[in-house]
Amino acid sequence: MEPVNNTPIYKMLKEYYEKGFLPFHMPGHILGRGLCEELKLAGSLDITEVPGSDCLHEPRGVIKEAQERAALCFGADYSLFLVNGSTSGIHAMIQAAVKPGGKLILGRDCHISALNALAQINGKPVFVLPDVDEKHQIPLGVTADSLEIVLKENPDAQAVLITRPGYYGTATQLRNISKLAKAYNMPLLVDEAHGAHFRFHEDLPEPAITQGADLCVQSLHKTLPTLTQTAILHGNSKSLIDRRIIERTVSMVQTTSPSYLLMASIDIARSIMENKGRELYEKLKHNISDFLIKLDKNTCIKRIKCDNENFEIDFSRIVLSFKSLGISGFEVEEILRSRFGIVAEMADLNHIVLIATPFHNSMDFDKLLMALKLISDEYRTVKAKAKLPRWPQQLPERIVPLREALFENVEEIPFINALDRVSGVFITPYPPGIPLVAPGEIINKEVIDYVDILLRENCPVHGIHDQKIKVLKARL
Ligand SMILES: Cc1ncc(COP(=O)(O)O)c(C=O)c1O
Repeated sequence: MEPVNNTPIYKMLKEYYEKGFLPFHMPGHILGRGLCEELKLAGSLDITEVPGSDCLHEPRGVIKEAQERAALCFGADYSLFLVNGSTSGIHAMIQAAVKPGGKLILGRDCHISALNALAQINGKPVFVLPDVDEKHQIPLGVTADSLEIVLKENPDAQAVLITRPGYYGTATQLRNISKLAKAYNMPLLVDEAHGAHFRFHEDLPEPAITQGADLCVQSLHKTLPTLTQTAILHGNSKSLIDRRIIERTVSMVQTTSPSYLLMASIDIARSIMENKGRELYEKLKHNISDFLIKLDKNTCIKRIKCDNENFEIDFSRIVLSFKSLGISGFEVEEILRSRFGIVAEMADLNHIVLIATPFHNSMDFDKLLMALKLISDEYRTVKAKAKLPRWPQQLPERIVPLREALFENVEEIPFINALDRVSGVFITPYPPGIPLVAPGEIINKEVIDYVDILLRENCPVHGIHDQKIKVLKARL
């Protein structure tokens, strides 16, 4: 896909290469000469800080211009490019908002980077349980009502972090959450890693940064046409967090040798989306609805719908249910890959999750449909499926601070003997993919029973390998 126009970083890189300089500078492959054939072209644009290329940590030239263009395009007051994914942006937001040892209110559905960031500053997580769709066992996200209860109990917390959307494409309604955070005078940080495309079609959920979030990170590489690792942190000039502070923490978590290839790919994607984003997503919406009509007509496979009014849906995230067939989501994922060469983003017991982008065409959807039709015909006989237990509504008790728990010595024991031990790991069953237990929390009877049922159903439970788990050694 050609960039449309106005791509200052990309333009600078091309001009530098075309000047035919003889480089006696980093990187060591000297404009691709030392790279293998496949990488040579990319290498020709892979320079570092040379005259004219600007500095990510104190941008004054092309990076500054590209970031300003991005802010306008994504609806932010300012935007900062990230070359180590949303992971680095989450670290930067938390360091900016929470003082060492302070409390952060966050959804239990948060990404691991949020807890790692908290551990680094010896911060205290205060969790809000996300809503789980009972019928499909899918995590939906944190609602304003659940957040308010935790806010009331923790007025001394220093910030709120919300993850939206989740992996299954449900995005919590943010307006009331934003009002609540303001009422409690807490900055609202949003992990919108999966929602970088939200700005480009009115039928997608509204982006967090235009709904009052103080800061928000988006992984461009997850849904937009950019290279892996690219992300953006968007800021609000009326934020409780001063721009100077977040710029400082972003600088602390980024390399001093940022890849211009990564930054150029952000610049190019912004240009494409700014000029054609709506048109591209309209076409995708059309392709998806066409695909779904045919899927409904030709198969027993259903796209799951979320009718909970607290959540909006990302139409580009296709979650298919195989509940009515004699096959699990894991098996479908495997068959699609090995027999049809189609690779899904993820699977759980009853579902597969597909990320559709404007760069999929109608032929891709036809290929997917053909494969699903064959699977549907083959596995039409319904095997009785186990009913999964209800997601525990009580969080396990924490007895060791997160940071200590992550660094303490552990021992591996059979999971069935882990009752009342302190976990050294995250125990995360799929579904619903939310940590049931975090390091430093007690493994109680409810956890043992819940995991036992999932393991018997062959559901993967991250943190448990060969029926064994790592628990803190010194805490019996
Ligand atoms: C909800 C969520 N937040 C943050 C991240 C981290 O994003 P990145 O891979 O861009 O660092 C992920 C990655 O999968 C994620 O799913």
